[in-house]
Amino acid sequence: MMDKHMQRCLDLAVQGRGLVGNGALVGAVLVRDTVSIAEGFHAGFGKLHAERDLLNRFTGDILPGDVLYVNLEPCCHHGKTPPCTDSILQRGIKHVVYGMRDPDTRVSGHGIEALRRAGVTVRASRDTAACEYVNRGFISVRTNGRPWITLKQARMPDGSIANMDGSPKNITSNAQNIWSHYYLRARSDAIIVGVGTIITDNPKLTIRHHEGAHQPYRIVLDPHLRLPENSRVVTDEYRERTIICTDKNTSANEVKKNALQASGVRVVSVDMHRDTFDWAQLWQALTAPADDYIGMTSVLVEGGRRTWDLFRRNGMMDEEVTLVGVPS
Ligand SMILES: NC(=O)c1ccc[n+]([C@@H]2O[C@H](COP(=O)([O-])OP(=O)(O)OC[C@H]3O[C@@H](n4cnc5c(N)ncnc54)[C@H](OP(=O)(O)O)[C@@H]3O)[C@@H](O)[C@H]2O)c1
Repeated sequence: MMDKHMQRCLDLAVQGRGLVGNGALVGAVLVRDTVSIAEGFHAGFGKLHAERDLLNRFTGDILPGDVLYVNLEPCCHHGKTPPCTDSILQRGIKHVVYGMRDPDTRVSGHGIEALRRAGVTVRASRDTAACEYVNRGFISVRTNGRPWITLKQARMPDGSIANMDGSPKNITSNAQNIWSHYYLRARSDAIIVGVGTIITDNPKLTIRHHEGAHQPYRIVLDPHLRLPENSRVVTDEYRERTIICTDKNTSANEVKKNALQASGVRVVSVDMHRDTFDWAQLWQALTAPADDYIGMTSVLVEGGRRTWDLFRRNGMMDEEVTLVGVPS
C-alpha cells in the first residue's frame, strides 16, 4: 500500500492536469506527528510550485520534527518561479521526503544536494513508480522530446472499426464511453485524430461523462487542410482548444488557414517527410509553450486506421487500449 502522505501529494498533483501545460503535476503536504497540517499544489502553468503554494498558505511556525512530502524533487533553479529549495530553507524545514527525481537536467539530483548541503534530511519515497506514472508525460517530454502517447481503438469482435461503406459505426456501449472519457480522455492533455475521422464522423472529441474535467486539446493531423470549415471541432464552444497541424509547404490553402485562425482555432505548420509529419518538429510545436499556449505532455490517439498505422510504424506509442464492442 502507498504511503498515505505521498498518495495525498499525488491526489493534489492531478488537480493540475490540463492546467500545467508542459510542466509537472506536483502536490505537497506538510506533516506534523503523522498528521497533515498544510497542503499545496501546482495549479497552473507559470503559477507557484507546490512547495511554495503550501508555504504561502501555511503561516504558522515550522517545528523541527515537521516533514515536507512532495512527489517531485524540489527545484533549485530560477525558472518561471524562484527555486523551491530556497523557500524550504528560509522557512526552516528540516525533513523532506520526495517521490521521484526531476528528469529536467537543470534540477536532477541538484535540488536534493542543495537541501542536504544545508543540513536538511532528504529521503526518497518508496512510491517512486506511482509518482513516475502520474508524471509519465512530463518525464517523456523531458527525456524523449515527445509526449506520452496512448493509442485508443474501438473495434467489433470481427475487427471492423467502421461500416463496409466507411460510414461511422456505433461500437462502444454507454458504459465503455463513460469509462474511456474518465480514464483516457480526462487523463490526457490532448486527443489526436486524422483528418479522415473528422470528415467521416465529425466527432466532438470532448469529455462528456465527467463533471468538472478540464477539456483536452483536440489535435487534427491535416497536412492538406481538408477538414470542413463547419466541423464541430472548428465551430463549437471549445474551438480555441483545437489545433490543426498542416504541411508547412502547402501554400495553396492560405485563405482557409487564415479563416480557421480567425475562428479561434490554432494552426501549426510542420514539414512533411513522405507520408508523415516530421515527428520531432510536430512534438516540438505541440509541447513547447508559445504566447498564450501552455504546451502539453500527453496525447490520446483516437484514430482512424491510417493515423494509428503511422503512429505504430514510427514507434510513436507508449501504450495501446482496445475497446471491443458487443454486437447488438
Ligand atoms: N473504431 C474506432 O475506434 C475509430 C476511431 C476513429 C475513426 N474511426 C473510423 O476510421 C475511419 C477514418 O480512418 P482513415 O484511415 O480513413 O482516416 P484517419 O486516420 O482519420 O485520417 C488519416 C489522414 O490524416 C492525416 N494524417 C494522419 N496521421 C498523419 C501523420 N502522422 N502525418 C501527416 N498526416 C497524417 C493524413 O491526411 P491526408 O490524407 O490529407 O494526407 C491521413 O491520410 C472512419 O471510418 C472512422 O469512422 C474509427
